[in-house]
Amino acid sequence: MHKVRKAVFPVAGLGTRFLPATKAIPKEMLTVVDRPVIQYVVDEARQAGIEHLIFVTGRNKGVIEDYFDIQVELVNTLTERGKKTELSLLEGLQPQPGTASFTRQQAPLGLGHAVWCARDLVGPEPFALLLPDMIMQSERGCLASMVELYEKTGGNLVSVEQCDPAETNKYGIVGHGGAVGSGFRIDGMVEKPEPKDAPSNYFITGRYILQPEIFDILETQEKGAGNEIQLTDGMLKLAEKQEFFAYPFQGRTFDCGSKEGFIRANVAFALWRQDIRGKVFDDLHKLMATVEPYGERSAAE
Ligand code: G1P
Repeated sequence: MHKVRKAVFPVAGLGTRFLPATKAIPKEMLTVVDRPVIQYVVDEARQAGIEHLIFVTGRNKGVIEDYFDIQVELVNTLTERGKKTELSLLEGLQPQPGTASFTRQQAPLGLGHAVWCARDLVGPEPFALLLPDMIMQSERGCLASMVELYEKTGGNLVSVEQCDPAETNKYGIVGHGGAVGSGFRIDGMVEKPEPKDAPSNYFITGRYILQPEIFDILETQEKGAGNEIQLTDGMLKLAEKQEFFAYPFQGRTFDCGSKEGFIRANVAFALWRQDIRGKVFDDLHKLMATVEPYGERSAAE
């Protein structure tokens, strides 16, 4: 079995839900505590043994490429000033030369199309796919646990969690086909089904290990839900020939594509950090006791 060495990060999305912030900053560069959202996702991939990072970008996303490059002036200034802690922090986050690649999606045709754009960079081997909207909090990263399960099952694997059964139309939903190791076999997949058509309430949370045969399928995949080329539709076709398994993730997942999820992520990761936890905890208590909705009081008067 091939080792999972490469990871694809589709980062071409416009981030319209975060306007005006995302007018000039890619949504993946918004910060959770003190690092961009994309850094959390890359860290998760690295913890899982990923050696090569592939970013599928778009217009106005150049700053992501800059972020993963060395900032020579900054390094020189920090060196002159003897800022060793900051220097080693930056060094630890830096991909080695030649281990990060960037390609552009060119047109916003959907997740399936974004993944297909990475076909040449991935080549004929299994790969991980991480959707950067979702960041996850657990001692052991979600993808690391998936790689462990994959080494037993082979085939294709997706991370799942259970959603409110009324909200299946927000996600890709999979059917439960019986337990296998720490996961289960998938016996159906639908992108954003209405609750009455959903095979379960297990939703795809944005981590995948896929076989390269998905690329040939995506090449001719027609548009589906939302009038976009959907990865889930491609996976459904691949499932006619190959096995699919689900890994139910046990940690916390934050959808940083929504305002509430992004704020929850900031609070949760601040509380996770030993250096600031105490102060943030106290401040939050005080704020919750004193802050009222803006304009509420004057409206009542
Ligand atoms: C995508 C996938 C969907 C998955 C979701 C997780 O949808 O198509 O299957 O459940 O990510 O965030 P999107 O959020 O891009 O509409």
